Amino acid sequence: MPVFRYIFLSAFLITLLVVGWAGFRGEATTKPPLQILPDMDNQAKVKSQAASTFFADGKGGRPLVASTVPMGLKIAAESTATAPTSGPSFSVGHDYYNTGRFGDYWGDGMPPQVALEPALIRRGADRYSIYCAVCHGQTGGGDGVTSKYGVPMAAGNFHLPTFTDTADANYRTDGNIFATITYGKGQMGPYGAMIPVADRWAIIAYVRTLQMVKATPAPAAATTPPAPAAPTAPAQESK
Ligand code: HEC
Repeated sequence: MPVFRYIFLSAFLITLLVVGWAGFRGEATTKPPLQILPDMDNQAKVKSQAASTFFADGKGGRPLVASTVPMGLKIAAESTATAPTSGPSFSVGHDYYNTGRFGDYWGDGMPPQVALEPALIRRGADRYSIYCAVCHGQTGGGDGVTSKYGVPMAAGNFHLPTFTDTADANYRTDGNIFATITYGKGQMGPYGAMIPVADRWAIIAYVRTLQMVKATPAPAAATTPPAPAAPTAPAQESK
């Protein structure tokens, strides 16, 4: 059937043409790129300092809405005297409970607002499993599941001297860990928008518990376990 031959031949040539025309787009060029499927590449927007016919005054840049706070500047906080210091709140004040700091220094230890009791540790264990264990490991050894998929956890082992030895030059105090949870550090992202202040302290208390458990030697067994019974008959050799 010669007609199929032409169909095949033309399909082949069309493919060649399309690939030849659209396929090789790897060269550097100063021309605007060829957009076969532009998707949402081009969108209406106002460039900074440009005019705009959208607004009555013809200016693209708009004055700030009253009481806008520029990012990166200090947000005027409530006074620590009136700021809520318990319950599901996020950092509001400038006190140790809300920042982990005393002025320019990191604090260590639980703030007075936090009651160090079993419920706190349980809450911390719960939150730690949800938010931290994937990377830092269920026991804080930095061996969470993500460490197997390329998250570098060299600094994430809570049993290193930087976390356990108060004499270490780089010792991380509770307040410092609080700030790491709040703002993140290096490779680690911030969790301040997800974990309320009270839960951050609960997590720290749990991390300290993990360290204590690791550092406590296992209690000596009351009785020495019986030696494994000697085999009564010589094991048969496999041939
Ligand atoms: C997505 C992975 C990931 C999660 C989840 C995570 N971390 Fe981290 N964390 C890291 C990495 C990576 C580092 C090392 C950061 C670096 O030095 O670049 C780190 C470092 C730290 C450090 C040490 C920072 C320092 O001072 O050197 C602390 C403390 C810490 N994490 C606490 C936590 C706590 C508490 C949680 C749970 C609320 C948590 N992390 C959740 C990845 C994670």
